[in-house]
Amino acid sequence: MVIQWFPGHMAKAKRQVEEKMKMVDVVLELLDARLPMSSRNPLIDRLVGKKPRLVLLTKTDLADPAATEAWVSHFNRLGLDVLPVDATTGKGVAQIPKRCEALLAEKFAALARKGIRTRRIRAMILGIPNVGKSTLINRLAKRNAAQTGDRPGVTKGQQWIRIGNTLELLDTPGILWPKFEDQQVGLRLAASGAIREEILPLEEVAAFALQYMVNRYPDLLKERYGISPGEVQEGAWMLEEVGRRRGCMRKGGEVDLEKAAELVVHEIRSGRIGRISLETPDDWQKEGESSAHESPGNDSVH
Ligand code: G4P
Repeated sequence: MVIQWFPGHMAKAKRQVEEKMKMVDVVLELLDARLPMSSRNPLIDRLVGKKPRLVLLTKTDLADPAATEAWVSHFNRLGLDVLPVDATTGKGVAQIPKRCEALLAEKFAALARKGIRTRRIRAMILGIPNVGKSTLINRLAKRNAAQTGDRPGVTKGQQWIRIGNTLELLDTPGILWPKFEDQQVGLRLAASGAIREEILPLEEVAAFALQYMVNRYPDLLKERYGISPGEVQEGAWMLEEVGRRRGCMRKGGEVDLEKAAELVVHEIRSGRIGRISLETPDDWQKEGESSAHESPGNDSVH
């Protein structure tokens, strides 16, 4: 789904999420396991407030398992409950109802003490476009139940989907925007496929990803493209080298950089390159932004 996030769309999306939020007991916040901070909405803490929240790290089948583990510890340290999931195979998904029950145990026990009959826990899924919201809803529902056409600004009827004996889920997920105003974050989002409309030149995205892999995944770089760390200089050089080695050539013997970039980005997004993550908690700490949940740039959305 391609959404152009203009301020008006952001304001509508925020309002719609606030409306949905009133209807639920628990929020399932979806973050891409390969880039959890970059795929996080800048206003999320403010929007969710004190409502119980389960953070789901999605697409773990594509992510580096060690980085995912580091992210789980990181979010736990921030006091957030986290569960890594892979909605395509269903790994981790069966634990969602139990984790929601645990988060709501106290509230429901208090209701029971007052003689209020226990009902199903109401949940909503929340996340940026392409993070895997619809796939997860369908996996939880065990059928095609997600209202995939939901876009900010379009109000649709919504329904509850029953999940097992304890949970019910809104079939329309809450859609929020990422923090794309930061260049580094934008490159990570584009490399993962979260920004599909190529806001950033693909050659820049591919060079960035190759550069990141030099330090973090040199073995994969060697395996996939035959580039050894010793011969590596920088991203743009590597992209040209990949193009040459993989036969992305123009007539006249020049490397077709656009084609090479398409190849690299496709192999990253599909996981063909191997399981890689595009950021770690350490990267964020180094960038001096590990505690910056909210970006002042987006605070003006009302
Ligand atoms: P959204 O509702 O949040 O916008 O995301 P959606 O579920 O539509 O998923 C976006 C893309 O990510 C889809 O691929 C989907 O198959 C893929 N995806 C979702 N969850 C996972 C996961 O756990 N692992 C992997 N590897 N991929 C996942 P697509 O290319 O847009 O569509 P399609 O090729 O599946 O048709």
